[in-house]
Amino acid sequence: MIDLAIRNVKVLDGSGSQSIEADVGIHEGHIHSIGTVGVAGTEIDGQGKCVAPGLIDTHAHDDGAFFRHPGMEFKLAQGVTTVVSGNCGFSAIPADPDKDSVAASGGILAGLEGEFTDLDGYFQAALSKHPAINNLMLVGHNTVRTLAMGMAQRESTKDELDVMRGHVEQALEQGACGFSTGLIYRPGRWSQTEEIIELARMAKPFDALYTTHMRNEGDQLLEAVEETLQIGRAADVHVHISHHKSAGRANWGKVKESLAKVDAALAAGQRVTLDVYPYTAGSGRMIEYFNLDRINRGLAEVIRIASCSAFREFEGRMVVDIAAERNMDVTEVVKMILTAPRGDRTICIHFIIDEADIETNLAHRDMMVGSDGIPDLRGKPHPRLFGTFPRVLGRYVRERGVLALEEAVRRMTSLPARTFGLIDRGLIKEGNWADLVLFDPDVVIDKATYDDPKQEPDGIELVVVNGRIAYDKGTHTGIGSGKMLRYRRSAFGD
Ligand code: CU
Ligand code: ZN
Repeated sequence: MIDLAIRNVKVLDGSGSQSIEADVGIHEGHIHSIGTVGVAGTEIDGQGKCVAPGLIDTHAHDDGAFFRHPGMEFKLAQGVTTVVSGNCGFSAIPADPDKDSVAASGGILAGLEGEFTDLDGYFQAALSKHPAINNLMLVGHNTVRTLAMGMAQRESTKDELDVMRGHVEQALEQGACGFSTGLIYRPGRWSQTEEIIELARMAKPFDALYTTHMRNEGDQLLEAVEETLQIGRAADVHVHISHHKSAGRANWGKVKESLAKVDAALAAGQRVTLDVYPYTAGSGRMIEYFNLDRINRGLAEVIRIASCSAFREFEGRMVVDIAAERNMDVTEVVKMILTAPRGDRTICIHFIIDEADIETNLAHRDMMVGSDGIPDLRGKPHPRLFGTFPRVLGRYVRERGVLALEEAVRRMTSLPARTFGLIDRGLIKEGNWADLVLFDPDVVIDKATYDDPKQEPDGIELVVVNGRIAYDKGTHTGIGSGKMLRYRRSAFGD
């Protein structure tokens, strides 16, 4: 007798093909049979709804969340079974126990525990928490640069570059899927293109990825795309552009030109993919977006405070409203927040993206979906943390018709699985790991809003992680069957 049968479902296998009506049988963590399935220990009636491979969040900052929130409820309830952490140049590894990497990341890595130094150690520590979902890691430039040369605002020396190279290589040897940068952030922004090429080159022997939060996503978006493509060609690695957008009203629409550059590179044989989050606001460490000597008023006017330990009462409010209430100028409010004790760790939400650009992005066939959620559950986080995937399926597939359901599923499953080196996931195929989501395509929708962001979506019925039921109609089972995945290899410890 097999372990689990999900019967009477439309199987969207992740390849982009039309669904087929079938039963799916699961045994010992794997997909055992598709079609006619024998009696199982646990029987689920899918009532004609859709079953798809578990969704893959290609852009996560969950390095620390695997310790602080091992139930990973905000991802699991969306049908996400695997996340890629270590994005934007900030990764939990490598770590020096004598240095505070959480502080260096401005809180992005908050939650980390334990005395690990490398990826093996991180995986071991994270697994001991019995995580609900799978994790795959990138090694981050900001992290390795901080270890090698602190916050020095200059080019790296040859010796420093050698230290960084060693860190990147070790992480890739231990199963990281690639090297990530965050070139608007400190200290990444002080590096020259050449330094990034030298480090991205480390991924070449592994055929691993270079992923990037580009140096500019607004006025110099096109130049930043050129730099990214140049790095990919020089290092001869696959490049993946994170949260592709055109920021600031003056730049709206420019994603078309940016995608045209990507298409030209693809046509010339370069390997390029991208991801996007389906919201018109970004979110990140507020201090990174402002020069305190010359505060950008236009930006200050579209900022909302997500979490702020210095002024908890500001959480969930627009800076313009705080300024009006206090009879202050918006720029003074920004300065007050950022210069307060721990004010530099404030996370903000900024409304900078055009709705039409989201649809342009989602229509591109090499576009994946990445939440970019920052898992700080205090305050009012950006709703993308809880809502990204059901929002694509509900709003952009069902309501707006921007892409077909099968195609959306492909972009969230087999495309990222193949790109990020998950050889036995991302497709419903006999022998693959049984990461699955059962959802109702007529109902699925995000519920998280800017005012009430910690809401789990509707329409996600069942989530299976490595063959075990992790989420069942609104209940998190706590089974803890997630694994620490390695690029094109078996999972850590398997
Ligand atoms: Cu990010
Ligand atoms: Zn980023």
